[in-house]
This record gives sequence, C-alpha cells and structure tokens, in this order.
Amino acid sequence: MRISVPEQALLIGGRWVPSSGGDVLPVEDPSTGEILGELVSGTSDDVDAAVRAAQTALDSDWGQMAAAERGRVLSRIGQAVLQRAGMLADLEAHDVGKPLKQARADALALARYLEFYGGAADKIHGETIPFQHGYTVYTLREPHGVTGHIVPWNYPMQIIGRSVVAALAMGNATVLKPAEQASMTALAFARIATDAGLPAGALNVVTGRGDVAGAALTRHPGVKHLSFTGSTAVGMTIQRSAAANAVPVTLELGGKSPQIVFDDADTEKALPFLVNAGIQNAGQTCSAGSRILIQRGVYSSVLARLIERYRALRVGPAMSDFDLGPLISARQKAVVSDYLDLGRAEGLIAAEGELAAGIPDGGHYVRPTLFADVAPGHRLAQEEIFGPAVVVIPFDTEDEAIAIANGTAYGLVAGVWTADGGRQMRMARRLRAGQVFLNNYGAAGGVELPFGGVGRSGHGREKGFEALYGFSTLKTVAAHHG
Ligand code: NAI
Ligand code: MG
Repeated sequence: MRISVPEQALLIGGRWVPSSGGDVLPVEDPSTGEILGELVSGTSDDVDAAVRAAQTALDSDWGQMAAAERGRVLSRIGQAVLQRAGMLADLEAHDVGKPLKQARADALALARYLEFYGGAADKIHGETIPFQHGYTVYTLREPHGVTGHIVPWNYPMQIIGRSVVAALAMGNATVLKPAEQASMTALAFARIATDAGLPAGALNVVTGRGDVAGAALTRHPGVKHLSFTGSTAVGMTIQRSAAANAVPVTLELGGKSPQIVFDDADTEKALPFLVNAGIQNAGQTCSAGSRILIQRGVYSSVLARLIERYRALRVGPAMSDFDLGPLISARQKAVVSDYLDLGRAEGLIAAEGELAAGIPDGGHYVRPTLFADVAPGHRLAQEEIFGPAVVVIPFDTEDEAIAIANGTAYGLVAGVWTADGGRQMRMARRLRAGQVFLNNYGAAGGVELPFGGVGRSGHGREKGFEALYGFSTLKTVAAHHG
C-alpha cells in the first residue's frame, strides 16, 4: 500500500500555506527505510505567523465562543476522528513503525481525549471566597492565551490529545510543532479538525526541526504557556528558553519506571503487564516499565517465565502487526544497540525475542532483550534506553524495594504487585512517581488520570481534569461594595 503525506504545507490561521523558507524534511517509514515523501520545514518567520494567527483567533471567533460551544466543537472533531481511525492508524503505522493494533489504539485514544475534554470544557469554574464584610470575592479560570505544544514521535496522537485538545478546551489558541520523524497524523488531525468546524487560528501547525521551528516557538514572546514532551536534555533547554519571557512550562520527560513484584503477588496476572509495559511501542514509551524488581522468594520462578515470554516475542514491520515494530530511526537503533552491546559484553542477557523472517533490510529493528541480575546502580538500570530493553533486579525487603525503585534521577510511573493491602498503601505513599499502579500497570492509558513526573521526569500534569488547571490561569476578583 502506498501512503502519501497528508499535507505538504503549514496550517496557519485556518489556511494551508507554504513555508517562508524552502527547506523540506524527509518522511521515512521505519519498517522499510523507504522515503514516503516530504514535510515542510518551518522557519522562525512561520512560527511568528502562527503565533499571530493564534492571537487573532483569541481576539475574534474562538476567543468569544462559549465554553459549551467549544466543547461541542471538540466533541464533533472526536466523532470525525473515530470515523477516520483506520486511516489515522495506517498513517501512524507507516510513519512511526508501530504495530497496527497499537496505532489504532492511539487513534481511539485521540478520539477519547476529544470526547473527554469536549465534555469537560464547560465544567471548570472558579469559586467565591468568604472575605471581610463589604466585599464579594470570586475567582475566574481563564486561558493563558496562545499556547505552544512541542510533541515527540513516539505517541503523536495521544500527546496531541492530552496537550493540544486540553488547551483548546480551556479556550487557548494553540501552535503545534510535531516531531520531524512523525508529523503525518498531526497534519491529518489538523485537516479533520478544520473540516469539523474548528475556528481558524485555534489550531496552527508548523512542521519542522526542533532546533529551528521548535526553538522559535519556545522563545516567542507571544506564547504564554509551553507544553513539551520529549527528552530531558531538550526539556531543560526549553525551560531555560521560556524563562526569558517568564512563561510557564509543562515538561513530560523520560523515565526509568519500576514494576515491583512481591512474593505474595498474583504472578499469573502480573506477567503480561510485566512484559507489555517494557516492549509496547518497542520500548519507546516515556512510562515504559523498564525495571522489573522481583522479591527473592519468587525471583527465579518469575524470571523463568519472563524468559519464556521474551523468547516468544516477534519483531517485524508495522503492517504485519507483530508484538514489536522497528525503532523510529537509524539513530535510535544505534543508541539502543550500544546498550544491548554493553549488556551482552557483561553477560547480562537472559533472553531475546526473534526478528521475523524476511523483514526489510532498511528497517530499524532490534530484538527485545531482558537483562537479569542487574545491579541497581548499573547504567542499564539507571539510564533511559528508549528501546525494548528491560532489566530484572532482585530485592529482599519492602525498604530495599523502595530504595531501588526511588534510586534513579527519574520519577514518572511505578507498578506494585502484592496482595497485602497495607503494603499497597505504604508503597503508594513512598514511591517517588507521578502515577502509582497497584496490581496493574498503566490502567490502559486512562485519559481521565492525571499524568506527569517528578525529578528528571519533568513537572506539571496533563490528562484528566488536572490538565485543565495547567492550561488555564486563575484571576481573583475582589469587589468592595460596602
Ligand atoms: P527530542 O527531545 O529531541 O524531541 C522531542 C521534540 O522536541 C521534537 O518535536 C523535536 O523537534 C523538539 N525539539 C528538539 N530540539 C528542540 C529545541 N532545541 N527546541 C524546541 N524543540 C526541540 O527527542 P529525540 O531526539 O527525538 O529523542 C531522543 C531521546 O529523547 C530518546 O531516545 C528518548 O530517550 C527521549 N524521548 C522521550 C520521549 C518521551 O515520551 N518522554 C519522547 C521522545 C524522545
Ligand atoms: Mg516517520
């Protein structure tokens, strides 16, 4: 099947326009290495035009639209996304290399974000505050204004859903800079949203390079809030850049999230989660459960079953829908392969999955790899690999589990498997993470559940109602009337 790039243009002020510069970026299919087409590489002038168009939208139709009507528009876009979920999944599978089933789940998640935030748009309100005699005091929840959204390549549709859609629900006007490796569904979504009646300028899309279009967005004085998902290094650069204009940032960065299995756990129930949380999207997931901590009493039995399952994993082209697709790029494959080589050289590999027969030479495939008996301070147990490589670490006591789990620079997600209710509560309190899952992991992506990190995993929360507070600001009005 031949896939074509949806739009080779930028969406600015409701119109598809060429860039002010002539640069383009290739669109690669990571399953084959084939170049599918070209994207416009936006300039800082294009970003400036997009920010101005967003401001114009705030000063006209979009800014004056009632919250209920904004919600209705988003719900309508959600319906359109549902109807086009198959097309969006095909595009994503070709652009990101993710197995078709996973691409389809992303398209459905985007629709779900539109439903959730469409319904929530008119349900966020301020309050009245009892104060001194003669005053009436109340608060107003207001949009920041123009918000910038810098999105990575691993889950484009889901991250557009939790960031851009939530910002729109609060009445912001948005400028989206998708990742250079994966912009196709962002462009397709923008077309769907425009066709479904999103007012001109509420969403603007500038494709292009991070260090050009992305950087221009982070230093533009017209942008009043920035949301970034991606690497810790770039996140910190963005925070510095935003500081020049005192602009608040939400940073969703990486992780090295633990899945902790106690002796009394229902290991039968845990096993598929232990495996899937590490290999979903070929491990290119900020919340990947990439460290499996197992209590000594069940260590060898759980490890033996993990080994069995890893050996049964299959890797192949996205459209063949195996357990794993390729990595996003040759560069990502080189980074991940260095970690795999390190573990191999030290004899830590316990199991590897299989590359399917006949996979295309140009694709960026690696085998899912399980490392066992890894010391908690080892590089493989400390650094985010962002590939299908998971370490298994034994522990003895609850205190030791906490020390290991909290012993990295990150703190995004944690999973705990135990039948002991008291321990569940203690662990949930003591784990340093933005989300803790008890006897599950990830809660199937739950759009309703606030998400974000501590430490080098970032700050601010997206998803759920919490995102709506982040994408708005609070004004206190104090009236003295005697
Ligand atoms: P990245 O952080 O460079 O890219 C993410 C987004 O930031 C892209 O849209 C990119 O164009 C933009 N960007 C890059 N430099 C920028 C700058 N100076 N100013 C503004 N925007 C900029 O991530 P990359 O290079 O694609 O992947 C490298 C590593 O980052 C991965 O191996 C992984 O460890 C981590 N990562 C984490 C993600 C997460 O979900 N937390 C997602 C993607 C990558
Ligand atoms: Mg691509």
